[in-house]
Amino acid sequence: MKILVTGGAGFIGSHTLVQLLRAGHEVIVYDSFANSKPQVLDQVKLLTSKDFPSIKGDLLERDLLNKTFAEHRPDAVIHFAGLKAVGESVEKPLDYYQNNVTGTLELLTAMETHGCHNIVFSSSATVYGTPKYLPYDEEHPLSPESPYGRTKFFVEKIIEDWTISNPQASAILLRYFNPVGADDSALIGEDPSGIPNNLVPYIAQVASGVLPHLQVLGDDYETRDGTGERDYVHVVDLAAAHLAAINYATSQTGCDAINIGTGTSITVMEFLKAFEKTVGKPLPYKIKPRRSGDVAKMEAKVDKAKALLQWESERNLENMCETTWRWQRYKMSSN
Ligand SMILES: NC(=O)c1ccc[n+]([C@@H]2O[C@H](COP(=O)([O-])OP(=O)(O)OC[C@H]3O[C@@H](n4cnc5c(N)ncnc54)[C@H](O)[C@@H]3O)[C@@H](O)[C@H]2O)c1
Repeated sequence: MKILVTGGAGFIGSHTLVQLLRAGHEVIVYDSFANSKPQVLDQVKLLTSKDFPSIKGDLLERDLLNKTFAEHRPDAVIHFAGLKAVGESVEKPLDYYQNNVTGTLELLTAMETHGCHNIVFSSSATVYGTPKYLPYDEEHPLSPESPYGRTKFFVEKIIEDWTISNPQASAILLRYFNPVGADDSALIGEDPSGIPNNLVPYIAQVASGVLPHLQVLGDDYETRDGTGERDYVHVVDLAAAHLAAINYATSQTGCDAINIGTGTSITVMEFLKAFEKTVGKPLPYKIKPRRSGDVAKMEAKVDKAKALLQWESERNLENMCETTWRWQRYKMSSN
């Protein structure tokens, strides 16, 4: 299958490219490199020994997007491109709505114009908001609490409406929980610019001496040890979920939302301890007040992914730490 991958140079996109190429699909990457580097695509080519076209373009560049569809005629789209920092979205909501919502409208319009009917979209567990019950199943009420989360919510609804209006259209909305880890090769991984917003890249930077200590944001939650509990999913498992989702999307029509997590959760302190074991030394941390908007615990119900996609996560906490650490050391040595 020929698949247009928007945001393919990003963290999750690059890991997904590797699996799509290894499975024999043709890919075309469309990325503005707003939050990634073109060199990532060279690493993917090195890893897979396969070549593919990439276009430096923004979803908001209508002519370029249409030209890309006209030239490459993809059968399906995996849509990763988007801005993803919750805090930044509170400061710059219009940028987030413009990029994530208008960008997706442009993409769907181009798909419609060029007769491409299948899409897998990167949604997020943030669409659920504060849990009414756990684990979250896909029927849990949607009540996102940040502009970022609301962009995912609106895009889900837009895509759903599109599939209702177009009987040939097929969409899978993948609601990711917390993606972590890196490819076993350490050639690709998460490469945040500035101070990381997410726990695991933060711990990796503490372990390598880039940051002085981990800030544990709250130790008085109602969890096993008082620190926040999240459902971390390995990015290689997550990439495999996209392969399953694109096959599923092209075999049916309509719209389905599917959680992608492990179904178990890990606390901040448990992650820190596991990382200490991987690096073989204690890592400094400081307890800080809770961050506003954070919930005590998030955990996915994953039965729907098993039933519809025959997908479930395979990698464990130890592997998440090992691959993150290997990638962190590679990054430090190549800088
Ligand atoms: N990483 C997470 O924790 C997480 C969790 C849930 C959902 N998601 C979603 O998954 C998707 C991929 O996340 P990621 O972690 O790989 O992020 P990332 O920032 O590493 O990758 C996103 C890619 O999209 C590109 N991009 C952004 N806006 C664009 C635009 N308008 N036109 C073209 N390219 C554009 C960026 O340059 C980047 O390469 C995002 O939509 C994100 O919201 C991520």
